[in-house]
Amino acid sequence: MDRIKISGGRPLNGTIPISGAKNAALPLMIASLLTSDQLTLKNVPNLADVNLLARILRNHGVDHSVDGKRAGPTPHLGETFHFTARDIVDTTAPYEMVSRMRASFWVLGPLLARMGETRVSLPGGCAIGTRPVDLHLMGLKALGAEIDIDGGYVMARAPNGLKGGRITFAKVSVGATHNVLMAACLAKGESVIENAACEPEVGDVAECLVKMGARIEGIGTPTLRIEGRDRLEGATHTVLPDRIETGTFAFAVAATGGDIVLEGARKPLVEAALAALERTGVSVTEVEGGIRVSRNGSAIEPIDRIETQPFPGFPTDLQAQLMALVTMARGTSTIRETIFENRFMHVQELARLGADIQLQGDTATVRGVKRLRGAQVMATDLRASVSLVIAALMAEGETTINRVYHLDRGFERLEAKLARCGAQIERVTG
Ligand code: UD1
Repeated sequence: MDRIKISGGRPLNGTIPISGAKNAALPLMIASLLTSDQLTLKNVPNLADVNLLARILRNHGVDHSVDGKRAGPTPHLGETFHFTARDIVDTTAPYEMVSRMRASFWVLGPLLARMGETRVSLPGGCAIGTRPVDLHLMGLKALGAEIDIDGGYVMARAPNGLKGGRITFAKVSVGATHNVLMAACLAKGESVIENAACEPEVGDVAECLVKMGARIEGIGTPTLRIEGRDRLEGATHTVLPDRIETGTFAFAVAATGGDIVLEGARKPLVEAALAALERTGVSVTEVEGGIRVSRNGSAIEPIDRIETQPFPGFPTDLQAQLMALVTMARGTSTIRETIFENRFMHVQELARLGADIQLQGDTATVRGVKRLRGAQVMATDLRASVSLVIAALMAEGETTINRVYHLDRGFERLEAKLARCGAQIERVTG
């Protein structure tokens, strides 16, 4: 298993290209199941999760090809993938695949809508909480699906096709919104989704579906109106920039000090995170083609209270990174996690570096310390592992992060991007 070694204490200076968003690329790839024509996706990040999903889709009969490797002058523009689901050869998504990547559960809606039946494994447990799928199933039932659970599988049928319906989600769910939105595009008649997730990745998928011929109103709002079509067509779509990667590197510069331009980043996608960063004393400015983040010499100010919320609130996917930053603030910060019940796996690992964090229910109280010291730590999930990278960049001495495959799932060329800005970071393959 690979490890990452970091010697901390160096500022970051230069330019970091921001990749296409993993959380948009995955559902966009799944949208290829809705049409027998070709769906071309540009700016797809080269990530373990993307490659795994491509394999899963191939199992259903989706052909895919990748254009030549990325070009030099615009390195944040990733690869171009072509997907064609001319014939769906298998409507089962097996446990071995869905258990390796939760987002592959989202094939449920598209396969059901196109084929009238599907069998998709329940995703199972996950390090950051129980993560149920009741909202996905409720939404598809409202479109007329008959759903049973048998042997750990969701068996969904709609022998006469799905019908438009009205869905009001009791809770904001990104995945359930993707699943039901995609299915509704091929249902007969109008569907309304209330309390839909407004995350920019949902909007990106909806924009792509519109290019494929779907009729969707209310994109970017909590109410989506979908007029179902008999068939969707091929399209070409560019994946939007990754706001979580943007925020992560912004927090990294805040942590180390320095001056970085996040090339290709879009400020409206990360307002809440950047506002939090400004409260810690960091300067954030919009520049042509990106965002500039700098902290030169000033102390890290604590944040008295921040809580994770659905978009446009502070994203849960940046909670661990913010916590890493304020471990060295001059005072006490409190961070409340409201989206996932067990998303504090990084706390114990940050403590190994010398952080002072108390957990009480869904709230972490972080007392700033004067220094962190390098140690051996363990990556537990995708976002937790990158928070350890940030802490290691601030720590004195060497930190070794084990189980970095979690990082490879969601961060493209992380070491290379940081190293070219002055970080001392290397991967040890083992
Ligand atoms: C997506 C993101 C993930 C992000 C999360 C919240 C991808 C690939 N993943 O995950 O990075 O952290 O959104 O922004 O895009 N819930 C239910 N019942 C359901 C579905 C969800 O109770 O049927 C709950 C979850 O347990 C959680 C909350 O709703 O507490 C939000 O989860 P959801 O938005 O569905 O997360 P994902 O789509 O899995």
